[in-house]
Amino acid sequence: MSSVPSTYETTTLRDGTVSLGVHAVPENTLGDDTVVIKPHYIGICRADIKEIVGSRDVMGDRGPLFGHELVGTVAFSGAGTGIQEGDVVTLNPNITPTRTTGFAEYIFVHGTKEQLEQAVVRVPEPEIHNDVWMPEPFACIVHAVKKLLELTNAHSLEGKKVGIIGAGCAGLMFAMYARHLGASISVFNRGEMRRAFAREQRILTEGEIYPLGDTKNHPDNFDLVIVAPTVASAEILEIAADMAADEAVVLVYGGTRNGDRFPLGQTDVDSIRRNERIESVEYRGKRLSISGAYGCFKEDYEEGYRLHAQHPHEFPLERLASRQISLDEFPDLVMGMAAGTEDHPGKVLIEVGDRR
Ligand SMILES: NC(=O)c1ccc[n+]([C@@H]2O[C@H](COP(=O)([O-])OP(=O)(O)OC[C@H]3O[C@@H](n4cnc5c(N)ncnc54)[C@H](OP(=O)(O)O)[C@@H]3O)[C@@H](O)[C@H]2O)c1
Repeated sequence: MSSVPSTYETTTLRDGTVSLGVHAVPENTLGDDTVVIKPHYIGICRADIKEIVGSRDVMGDRGPLFGHELVGTVAFSGAGTGIQEGDVVTLNPNITPTRTTGFAEYIFVHGTKEQLEQAVVRVPEPEIHNDVWMPEPFACIVHAVKKLLELTNAHSLEGKKVGIIGAGCAGLMFAMYARHLGASISVFNRGEMRRAFAREQRILTEGEIYPLGDTKNHPDNFDLVIVAPTVASAEILEIAADMAADEAVVLVYGGTRNGDRFPLGQTDVDSIRRNERIESVEYRGKRLSISGAYGCFKEDYEEGYRLHAQHPHEFPLERLASRQISLDEFPDLVMGMAAGTEDHPGKVLIEVGDRR
């Protein structure tokens, strides 16, 4: 029997404004092809902010991302879905565009049995509600590293010098994973707030985190440079290429837009990122490989759970949570983030309680 009520609280993103209200559950929505998830925790992602301000190219095959990082319980599963009601699950937003926002009391996901098996991923950690971490975006990092190793015919990063631009959530998780795979890491971040957060949360040591300007002291130095800030402007990509040693790889993970090219018209970095390719370029007398990664699959979530369970000290993902708010507080806070008047390091989590 479905535990979905006839009305529910949900957010709406319209013309750059986020609002919260009570809406009727659309009639006939609880069909055979539907899974309804009741989120307990939802993470705010940089992609959500980009969609508010309109600076993100939305991919038609997966739809808008607004409200996609979550951990919740299956409240309803249609007869044709193969998903178990009551299971603790997370969402892979890269599979079907036919879904509602996760910034809500309930999220409605529609698809074929095969799509839903990929999109609604069971969480094997029962204690995740006590010590919350977000399986996605970690699955994207797991996927990106796996793709990088595949594209470069490598098995590990043992002994490699890895430079990471950006100490946001993505940069910090790349740092954890590269260190786990045997690399020495140096993370460069523009502002002090995220550098302090990384140190205070004991995610990075003093010798692993630097101001972005310090990249000048490390020219031609890194075997791998990971570009993980909000924007991968030509200036940031140049910094990455300057840091890279001859024959190094530059992994572009975040922040490209349709048509972006680097270096100076040579490669379509946005297409490299979204199509997960690798291309060789000449840059100031060096030969570099530019590679990219985008999205993730169910097996990346499963590998993420394995890494977290087997190596909790190397993957302290719960320490990324910097703040917890209610759904009522969400519209004001996220509009502040979009306006640039509010900024929080790590991950802001929304705890979705039951409506009074
Ligand atoms: N490829 C994929 O599959 C995938 C998946 C998920 C996310 N992403 C992308 O990854 C990127 C990072 O996400 P996140 O969750 O780590 O974001 P986040 O936690 O909000 O961190 C944003 C980072 O970008 C830096 N930054 C912003 N503007 C900058 C600028 N103009 N110059 C230099 N640094 C700047 C910030 O530095 P300050 O501290 O100085 O502000 C911070 O380090 C986003 O673009 C997101 O869309 C990609």
